[in-house]
Amino acid sequence: MKIIETIKDMKFFVQQAKEKGLSIGLVPTMGSLHEGHLTLMRQAKKECDVVVVSIFVNPTQFGPNEDYGKYPRDLTGDSEQASKAGVEVIFHPQVQEMYPKGYNSFIEIDGITQKLCGLSRPGHFRGVATIVAKLLNIIQPDKAFFGQKDAQQVLVLQRMVSDLNMNVILEIVPIVRERDGLAMSSRNAFLSEEERGAALILYRSLQLAQQLVAKGELNVEKVKHQVIMNIQGEERAQIDYVEIHSYPLLENVDVIGEKALLALAVRIGNTRLIDNIILEG
Ligand code: PAF
Repeated sequence: MKIIETIKDMKFFVQQAKEKGLSIGLVPTMGSLHEGHLTLMRQAKKECDVVVVSIFVNPTQFGPNEDYGKYPRDLTGDSEQASKAGVEVIFHPQVQEMYPKGYNSFIEIDGITQKLCGLSRPGHFRGVATIVAKLLNIIQPDKAFFGQKDAQQVLVLQRMVSDLNMNVILEIVPIVRERDGLAMSSRNAFLSEEERGAALILYRSLQLAQQLVAKGELNVEKVKHQVIMNIQGEERAQIDYVEIHSYPLLENVDVIGEKALLALAVRIGNTRLIDNIILEG
């Protein structure tokens, strides 16, 4: 497995792969790889000839008071895991390679970015869309693989690819959970043992909502209220948002229709976790 650090070398690798007629699968990550990422890589391996994993902690998607500085970084551990998953290349550029002096171009997606994480993390999706567009331009993958855990990110990127007529297929892979239900996330590494236990409140609250809907409760405010009460019962949890929107348009709704997204952002201690479920009314 190769580790490539410059855009020039990455483009050269891509050109050679394309000349050989090989299809390319891209798994964009910020590193600190876990089973969720490895599932994306295995899926990419099944569907494409060559798998490229990008590892880049993207500064433009973090707000000034967020965890950019302390975001976990472990290139050695990541390389071992990616290599075992059959990845051919890790693209690992430095910040000045992706955003050189004078860099001034950003992608803004309206509408669906003005809710959920877009409200609590202003500028986040502008940073995500920009870096993903850059990676797609550099690596020109046939397919790019993302996890459903970042449900809003997926919708934003699908919008971008469709609106800007980008030549790539986005493959969305279901949320990968620990045995007890906690959604896999690089940020789980920040949790103390007690916080790790408390973090289960996210999954349990999603399950509670699913049970309510299964019993016929389709009123958005009532389901949200039960979920909020449930999370508030966990003393280490502080709610950032609990929202239900239509899916995939993310419109405000009073009643859970055919498909609705229940999305949670909850702080456990200092760690902000997100999780979601698609409710089917
Ligand atoms: O989901 C992530 O890890 C990041 O938002 C992504 C897509 C790699 C862009 O930096």
